[in-house]
Amino acid sequence: MGRLTGADSGPGRLPEPEAIFAAAMALVDASSPSTPLAGPKPLAGRTITISAGGTREALDPVRFLGNRSSGKQGVALAAAALDAGAHVRFLAAHMDVQAPAGVELVQVESALELRDAALEAAVGSDVVIMAAAVADFRPAEVSDTKIKKVNGNDAPVVRLVQNPDILHELVVRRDAAASTQLIIGFAAETGDEDGDVLEHATAKLKRKGCDLLVVNQVGVGRVFGQDQNSVIILSGHGAAPQSAAGSKSDVAAAVIDRISTELSRVRPAT
Ligand code: CTP
Repeated sequence: MGRLTGADSGPGRLPEPEAIFAAAMALVDASSPSTPLAGPKPLAGRTITISAGGTREALDPVRFLGNRSSGKQGVALAAAALDAGAHVRFLAAHMDVQAPAGVELVQVESALELRDAALEAAVGSDVVIMAAAVADFRPAEVSDTKIKKVNGNDAPVVRLVQNPDILHELVVRRDAAASTQLIIGFAAETGDEDGDVLEHATAKLKRKGCDLLVVNQVGVGRVFGQDQNSVIILSGHGAAPQSAAGSKSDVAAAVIDRISTELSRVRPAT
């Protein structure tokens, strides 16, 4: 399903290369576990929850507040996690691409829906990766009917309220349960008069309390919807920053690799 070559959408759309690759690898692995194509499976037996895409915050039945997230990085992460042998719970907000075959798919629309899905999926997950672009605000009132313009009247004023910080809530719950779950955040940052990208990212890592923060620099034409990415992985536990660049699949592989290493330190596979 999805947008076709023309303006229409429906079944028949060619899946993303990552999705085709993950499905092919799953078939190869299932038919012959000892095939030389099947590499090591450092995440075998692990469950990873990954959120991806951008939330949509309804204003009325036809309008919403959204963002430019394509979901490509989240899909690449899911494909890399599947490839590493993990069971993947994939929480998909709005995406321009399809979820890879082989994930346990949960589709969500808004930040509040994503929050419920993430808190539920996190239970029993070894790792939670919040790659979704969660809207910080939603309209305070959602109209049941389409808001009409009335000629001669002022345009309506939309009041916003803040959405819950899902990543922070996951960390608080994890800590309350004294669990060894790894929690990874993503941050798209721009420098401004208050600090550069790394300064903002370091402050965010502290505020969120997650184990790793994958940071990319955004600006017009950078990151959103692009196929290439360049990130810095910051550690909440004092390890030196690590950079990774290349296609979103390369970046995903580096992040999943780092997670495998962290996981084997925190809780060796039994
Ligand atoms: N995030 C979340 N819940 C929110 C907002 C963000 O879980 N309400 C998560 C994102 O999925 C991401 C991380 O927090 O993993 C950082 O997202 P970002 O939008 O950069 O953070 P904000 O908290 O919105 O920070 P700011 O607005 O100050 O940049």
